[in-house]
Amino acid sequence: MTFRARHLLGIEHLAPDEIRTVLDLADTYVDLNRRTIKRTDALAGMTQINMFFEASTRTQASFELAGKRLGADVMNMAVAHSSVKKGETLIDTALTLNAMHPDLLVVRHPSSGAVNLLASKVNCAVLNAGDGKHEHPTQALLDALTIRRAKGRLQRLVVAICGDIAHSRVARSNLLLLGKMENRIRLIGPPTLMPAGVNEFGCEVYDDMRAGLEGADVVMMLRLQKERMDGGFIPSEREYYHRYGLDAEKLAFAKPDAIVMHPGPMNRGVEIDGELADDINRSVIQEQVEMGVAVRMAAMDLLARNLKAERGRMAAGVVV
Ligand code: NCD
Repeated sequence: MTFRARHLLGIEHLAPDEIRTVLDLADTYVDLNRRTIKRTDALAGMTQINMFFEASTRTQASFELAGKRLGADVMNMAVAHSSVKKGETLIDTALTLNAMHPDLLVVRHPSSGAVNLLASKVNCAVLNAGDGKHEHPTQALLDALTIRRAKGRLQRLVVAICGDIAHSRVARSNLLLLGKMENRIRLIGPPTLMPAGVNEFGCEVYDDMRAGLEGADVVMMLRLQKERMDGGFIPSEREYYHRYGLDAEKLAFAKPDAIVMHPGPMNRGVEIDGELADDINRSVIQEQVEMGVAVRMAAMDLLARNLKAERGRMAAGVVV
């Protein structure tokens, strides 16, 4: 098993063998999670604190469940609606919590880079649960596990990522991960929702769904991230659905066995047809949620092993 990381801040710094290690271990946790007794003691005696400065359903719930199933003491800070802002206040909060000796800190924050900054101030392992438009590493890992289990491999696939690419940390982390695993990535969406410099990403870029979906193995839909938009990026949701919403007619341009993904929360009738999202023959959206718990268990387990090893070396007086 190879996993050298001290924190999980993004996919950017993970090597392909580390990604495979997380996915392989997560596969074993999928099995555990399907049993009646879903418990190990990988994190027994350790403390996990979840700090979500932005709304979350799936990510927060799955990090909490993941920690509990690994035997950790899990504390959720209710910060989403407080007046805590970035900068000093975030660091002060982190330092206060750090003084309580947590072992794992799970953080979601609206500012890109805030979680990296925080990681430099504390002496526990930090997991990024989504920071602004920057990264959402556990989402990309759970997407990768879902793809690998559905397609039997994670290489040489044509993956179409569609919609609001510009504001999406999910797209960014997926681009990095799928690129490292040697897949062909297509970005599809209106030019107003493409990030600056998109033509230098090494992906194919389309503004037409039918052309972009042609021959795709995986179709990943994204939500319009209105909370990150400062102005009109689309004429209307109706028009957007007409051109970019995924329905059976557009999906017919992809491979006949193409899978449909969405990180949630979904806006039915805006980026995806409700019936298609529920079609268990095409949609793996519920599998993504299931894989989310397993991937987060694997990531926290691996970080905890590294943390224990590091503390063991420090206690033995080994200089690192
Ligand atoms: C995503 C997020 O928060 O970045 N959701 C999630 O974690 N499942 C995507 C989104 O909010 O649209």
